[in-house]
Amino acid sequence: MPTETRIRNADEKDIYIISEILRPYAENKLLLSRSPEDILSHLKNFCVALIGDKIAGCCALRNYGNNLFEVRSLAVSSKFSNMGIGTKLVTFCMEKAARNGKVKVFALTYRSDFFERLGFRKVQKSLFPEKIWSDCSVCSKKDNCDEDALLIEIG
Ligand SMILES: CC(C)(COP(=O)(O)OP(=O)(O)OC[C@H]1O[C@@H](n2cnc3c(N)ncnc32)[C@H](O)[C@@H]1OP(=O)(O)O)[C@@H](O)C(=O)NCCC(=O)NCCS
Repeated sequence: MPTETRIRNADEKDIYIISEILRPYAENKLLLSRSPEDILSHLKNFCVALIGDKIAGCCALRNYGNNLFEVRSLAVSSKFSNMGIGTKLVTFCMEKAARNGKVKVFALTYRSDFFERLGFRKVQKSLFPEKIWSDCSVCSKKDNCDEDALLIEIG
């Protein structure tokens, strides 16, 4: 099996596999679920990781304007864990964000260790305007969110 990982922007033919990669993590409440329709309408935000011609992971970069971005819907299929794919996906998104100059990139996650290794630091969720947590209003954990907010300034 080829082991070299390539990251590219997602296209329409990737939508089903992206939703399948996210699904088990969404079912375990590690990520918000994203329907194929939702993925399609935000497709330009998504990138995918390929091993050979197989999609092993995905990540989205949401632009809030004012040089603020969010890394979200980051997932790597469990059979490809700990091969550096998640790191490459986040790095790709950070580089994409940094093309806009000096930017802030944040993530809301249970994997603060993973993001800290990439240079993110823990911050108070209240640092961000409430409207940024638009997803939170549809999350089952909205009243007792136990995820960490992490932020990096780059560019
Ligand atoms: C978080 C997640 C994306 C990480 O993906 P991954 O591809 O396993 O990530 P990496 O391989 O880059 O890094 C994982 C570990 O492997 C190690 N690693 C990195 N490259 C490696 C390599 N080439 N060989 C062996 N180990 C490696 C890293 O040190 C890292 O350790 P850490 O997690 O303690 O920091 C994945 O576990 C996942 O999909 N989790 C569920 C969804 C989730 O929680 N997403 C984040 C919410 S925003």
